[in-house]
Amino acid sequence: MNKTACIVLAAGDGKRMRSGRPKVLMNVLFKPMLGWVLDSAEETGVDEVCIVAGNQAQQVTDYLEKREKPYTTVLQLERKGTGHAVMQAEEVLKRSENVLVLCGDAPFMDSDTLKKALELHKKENCGVTVISASIDEPFGYGRIVRDEKGFLLKIVEQKDATDEEKQIKEINSGAYWFEGAALAEALPKLSDSNAAGEYYLTDAVALIRDSGKKAAVYTAENADIVLGANSRADLNALNEKARKSKLKKLMDGGVEFPCTDGIIIGADVIIGQDTVILPNTVIRGKTVIGENCEIGPNSLIENTTVGNGVRLNNVQAFDSVVEEGATIGPFAQLRPNSHIGKRVKIGDFVEIKNSDIGEKTSVAHLTYLGDSDVGRGVNFGCGCVTANYDGINKYRTVIGDDAFIGCNTNLIAPVEIGDNAATGAGSTITKNVPANALAVERAETRIIENWEKNKKRKKK
Ligand code: UD1
Ligand code: CA
Repeated sequence: MNKTACIVLAAGDGKRMRSGRPKVLMNVLFKPMLGWVLDSAEETGVDEVCIVAGNQAQQVTDYLEKREKPYTTVLQLERKGTGHAVMQAEEVLKRSENVLVLCGDAPFMDSDTLKKALELHKKENCGVTVISASIDEPFGYGRIVRDEKGFLLKIVEQKDATDEEKQIKEINSGAYWFEGAALAEALPKLSDSNAAGEYYLTDAVALIRDSGKKAAVYTAENADIVLGANSRADLNALNEKARKSKLKKLMDGGVEFPCTDGIIIGADVIIGQDTVILPNTVIRGKTVIGENCEIGPNSLIENTTVGNGVRLNNVQAFDSVVEEGATIGPFAQLRPNSHIGKRVKIGDFVEIKNSDIGEKTSVAHLTYLGDSDVGRGVNFGCGCVTANYDGINKYRTVIGDDAFIGCNTNLIAPVEIGDNAATGAGSTITKNVPANALAVERAETRIIENWEKNKKRKKK
């Protein structure tokens, strides 16, 4: 028996999005709306989460698999209303004391609200506790109808509301705590004789109350919890709200934004105090940025851990680690699995991939380092390339501490350059170079005198 479970309704189609994806997988700050809802459910601490999928169910289950947490999924093959959707999860109701029902397309429902509603639900020993909000434009939402003493009577849908009921500004958020057994008992009694011809979950509220159980309302402090999106324009509005709220939180935590133009920061990103973020910078995924950094302008940082005092100017970084005091850019890319050591300098038009770059190494310009293990204090001249791929396989390049790689060196992997070794400018290195040695692979310069004159003679 679960103490608590959560059922997330996610079978809707969302035709107005004009998308090949189901509505619940549309992104707000780069995270599917369903992801926001699941995060809130998980933060609330429920024992089981069950998702009712229907439209494009395969995409929904693929997403759930990526989250690497155990979920129960049930299918709603025909879309016959929110009550019908919950019926598909009947087994979950039967094995759970209290069940939270959430809409998969209302991303701003937060765990704080859910916890407070559960507290009320338990304290009052309710059969159902509806989470409501008061909004200025209630059109489209179910209205909370109370009796003269203020107790919850029923929820009436927009399509079925009388003119008087349409004036009510307190609306149903679509989230509720139910006593599992009470809801299981009410569901078979739902009927579809209403304006929409659907089995409304909202009708379960009056049924539970009529069975003698308490039905309560928890009014959320923040009315944004009800917001959802039916169109791309709605989705953009949600993104903008979430973006501003994330920036505000970061500012409250001491992050500096001289101007917020073009800055989008994912909900899960962590940034330390006194870090400055400059315009046109997108930071997303599981990125953590330290204190006193300067990030941007024009940067994209994804799933990357950045230490204190780092500067990333016009940088693209993916799935990488940048340690304290490193400076990167302008116009540099860290492809996945790059580890940049402390106080490393990476300059313009440098690409690093799947490589480890040791402390204080300098890769100042126009260089590609792929599949490489580079020691500390190494200096790369301009235009060095690790030739890591022979068309079939990839090989590693290993460079020892304090090595000096001359301008335009090609390192043909697999190859090793020892500590303190050097390569001459323009060399193509195909053999291992021992420590302290110089490797030069370069034809001697020939001087042909009077060359210019000879050319002119030939032309005639
Ligand atoms: C519902 C509520 C309404 C509330 C509003 C809040 C009912 C009858 N009405 O209305 O009181 O104010 O949410 O947003 O519940 N879904 C399914 N299967 C279905 C139908 C819906 O999984 O057969 C899912 C949808 O994908 C969505 C959620 O349930 O995530 C809500 O459904 P929706 O049709 O948007 O309900 P509303 O009409 O908005
Ligand atoms: Ca809706």
